[in-house]
Amino acid sequence: GPDIPVADVRAHLAELSRIADENGGNRAHGQPGYRAGLDYVRARLDAAGYTTALQEFRADGATGYNLVADWPGGDENATVMFGGHADSVSAGPGINDNGSGSAGLLEVALTVAEQNLRPAKHLRFAWWGAEELGLVGSTHYVESLASTELAKITGYVNFDMIGSPNPGYFVYASASQPPGSEQIEKVLADYFVAAGVQTEPVEVGGRSDHAAFARAGIPTGGTFTGAEKTKSSAQAAKWGGTAGEAFDPCYHRACDTLDNIDETALDHNTDAIANAVWTLTA
Ligand code: PHE
Ligand code: CA
Ligand code: ZN
Ligand code: ZN
Ligand code: ZN
Repeated sequence: GPDIPVADVRAHLAELSRIADENGGNRAHGQPGYRAGLDYVRARLDAAGYTTALQEFRADGATGYNLVADWPGGDENATVMFGGHADSVSAGPGINDNGSGSAGLLEVALTVAEQNLRPAKHLRFAWWGAEELGLVGSTHYVESLASTELAKITGYVNFDMIGSPNPGYFVYASASQPPGSEQIEKVLADYFVAAGVQTEPVEVGGRSDHAAFARAGIPTGGTFTGAEKTKSSAQAAKWGGTAGEAFDPCYHRACDTLDNIDETALDHNTDAIANAVWTLTA
């Protein structure tokens, strides 16, 4: 896959930050900043030639939205999906959680269009609503699909927190995911091997939007740079950063701003998304 310029990802994060600032300081489900952020992503995808759709659902007395973007072409009986959540918590703008995954996915999607990628498989991106309320949007999406439509999805790859300020380089462990997930884990890990960055497999359990896909038996995977857990001294020795501190000390806090991003982690993980899109849809 191509080398995505991290400055282009940062530009999307700056837009999401401005949108939060102009809408009460967050991009949370049911708040105006959520729709404004999603509309920014959708407008960029529409201009690039994607077929986009908003899927509505209700949660906590408010309407929520998933944004689903299809890149025209490819074998729809073998659809590969890449996604992450677009909502923040209400405490802050959610730039690492999950502006980072949202922006990385958007820039890779725009690069697919710029390079006019013609994958053999069908490529679909998704930005989920109301993850922070309990994976509501992604669960709604999976449960709303007929079994014949679900059967066409051959993989789902998730990106939630990919620019943590004291980063780890984690790849979702395939052992606890449905059969077929090994290939996704390998493709993600292969990028980091080529880049000379060590990774660790991580048990993410049901903590992000891959969970509903996994429950449906769809192969899943993803990358993650760490949240509230503390970096060990062994991890600091291989990755740098600060042992004894959280991977993201601003996790779910007001200080999850543009300053709460490690640019190198964001760069590597966005390039890993690109590598996975190019490889898994070929
Ligand atoms: N889903 C968590 C959140 O948004 C973060 C997380 C991502 C935790 C991936 C573990 C693995 O708050
Ligand atoms: Ca890059
Ligand atoms: Zn670009
Ligand atoms: Zn969160
Ligand atoms: Zn998250």
